[in-house]
Amino acid sequence: MKSITIAPSILCADFRRLQQEVEQLTAAGADWLHFDTMDGHFVDNISFGPLVLQALRQDTELSLDAHLMVSNPAEHISRFAEAGADAIIIHRETVTGPAALLNRIRGLGLQAGLAFNPATSLEGLEVVIEHADLILVMTVEVGAAGQEFMPTTLPRIEQVRAMIDRQGLDTLIAVDGGIDETTAPHVVAAGADVLVCGSYLFGHPEGCEAAIAALRNAV
Ligand code: DX5
Ligand code: ZN
Repeated sequence: MKSITIAPSILCADFRRLQQEVEQLTAAGADWLHFDTMDGHFVDNISFGPLVLQALRQDTELSLDAHLMVSNPAEHISRFAEAGADAIIIHRETVTGPAALLNRIRGLGLQAGLAFNPATSLEGLEVVIEHADLILVMTVEVGAAGQEFMPTTLPRIEQVRAMIDRQGLDTLIAVDGGIDETTAPHVVAAGADVLVCGSYLFGHPEGCEAAIAALRNAV
């Protein structure tokens, strides 16, 4: 059985008690913490930025992956690196030639990720994928937690999986949006390695530990 990485989305945490949330997630067996930065421009919502990531960094040794839903990622990368991110994910829609920026992220010693909204063509990914450590396939429209999983994204995960396998790369595939115990098996069967999970995990009636266990059992 393939090992799955669970990355709770901090966007769905209780911000009044972030430190305790992080402690609970760690004890519950979370692998990474997914950090959704939103700029109110690329997406409507505004969330949090490098200062909050820096604060989280003090409280955890888990890998922090910063998902930059911002129009101008190039201007923010060094701040997120200094704040202590382990991975930075930029959106395909916000860059013309992603390879240069992905290389810059790698040059800072971080994992480089490239995210695709459901409607964004995967054309051209074949030639830049070697510059990415992770491809984030959005499984809802970007910009808000709590949306319903879009099954139309499953063939996209399969396409990315096929590209990675064809080129013999070890690039990870992450999925983000509407992941729960019913959708997880489908995305994993399609080829996902990393499950970003917000509402389901934080809203589980028996707590985050039960949610993480249910996700792992389901795949
Ligand atoms: C959406 C964010 C997601 C979101 C996941 O734009 O990137 O990380 O918070 O939340 P759920 O799991 O509720 O869809
Ligand atoms: Zn995200």
